[in-house]
Amino acid sequence: MAAAAVRRRRRQQGSALRNADPQGERSGRLWAVCFVAAAVVALSGGLLAWSSRSAEDGVAEVLARRGETLLDKFVEVPCSGDYDGYRRFEGCTPRRCGRGVSDAVITREEAERIRRIAERGLSLGGSDGGASILDLHSGALSLGKQFVNLYRYFGDKIQDIFTEEDFALYRDVRQRIQQKIAEAFGISSSSMYLTKPTFFSRINSTEAKTTHDEYWHPHIDKETYGSFDYTSLLYLSDYAEDFGGGRFVFMDAGSNKTVEPQAGRVSFFTSGSENLHRVEKVHWGTRYAITISFTCNPDHGIGDPVLM
Ligand SMILES: *[C@@H]1O[C@H](CO)[C@@H](O)[C@H](O)[C@H]1NC(C)=O
Ligand SMILES: *[C@@H]1O[C@H](CO)[C@@H](O)[C@H](O)[C@H]1NC(C)=O
Repeated sequence: MAAAAVRRRRRQQGSALRNADPQGERSGRLWAVCFVAAAVVALSGGLLAWSSRSAEDGVAEVLARRGETLLDKFVEVPCSGDYDGYRRFEGCTPRRCGRGVSDAVITREEAERIRRIAERGLSLGGSDGGASILDLHSGALSLGKQFVNLYRYFGDKIQDIFTEEDFALYRDVRQRIQQKIAEAFGISSSSMYLTKPTFFSRINSTEAKTTHDEYWHPHIDKETYGSFDYTSLLYLSDYAEDFGGGRFVFMDAGSNKTVEPQAGRVSFFTSGSENLHRVEKVHWGTRYAITISFTCNPDHGIGDPVLM
């Protein structure tokens, strides 16, 4: 948007300069008038575009900006009553709620390696709409307007696609994120269990073909997936560099707060309605991320994905 405004401004200045080619003695003044007029048009156009954009996307505050490196950002929010409807597990079920962002858990290089795993897996399928997922645990992979089971579909050949190293990296990353969440919320990491679904997502600007492609609706993870207590997202590509739109938005009563994705950035939050959120539509490019979620209920825990 900013780049477009600059380009527009350049175009307008360019045409003002062309219109003002020196022809006669008044050209100097004409040039100045044209230039000022163009500058005013460009500036007000930019302001207009900026204000209409802010009103349209309802973004008031940036929690994590792309380009900055956050060590530990944590914002506490009052817990909703959502956890009361479930069995409580002391020392794990949220008593303290909130959201955090850290660029210090996973390196950019690790994120790039994970992104290559995602690219490899997702290249075998892909939704007809703009949002594809690959669930390493169940093997679910978007294909056309439905899902196939990657492991069943490819059988032994899966070992040509994913290596033991890929799974080891996933386990390591999952463990470090789990540790980070435990630390931020003051609970023991061993009281949390990985839960499903845990999946890679690849989103581009292609129009949705089924409701599975409609990732942008505001939602509450605990309502969508009852087992979730803590949700985390690891971003694998860069906002404004690899894709446009696609920011994560916490929707609070008073304001919306965004997290701008960047490779290696981990965002995590308690899964109840204190953290109503949505993802903006991706306007261009491709956005990769992985969702890794945790439950306090051991009955809903799953093991790490393994090479079958
Ligand atoms: C988006 O991804 C789908 C596959 O999931 C592909 O068919 C489509 O061409 C892509 N669209 C763009 C704009 O790259
Ligand atoms: C937050 O964003 C939503 C959707 O974009 C918008 O409808 C709402 O008015 C925004 N809220 C505030 C407080 O700006």
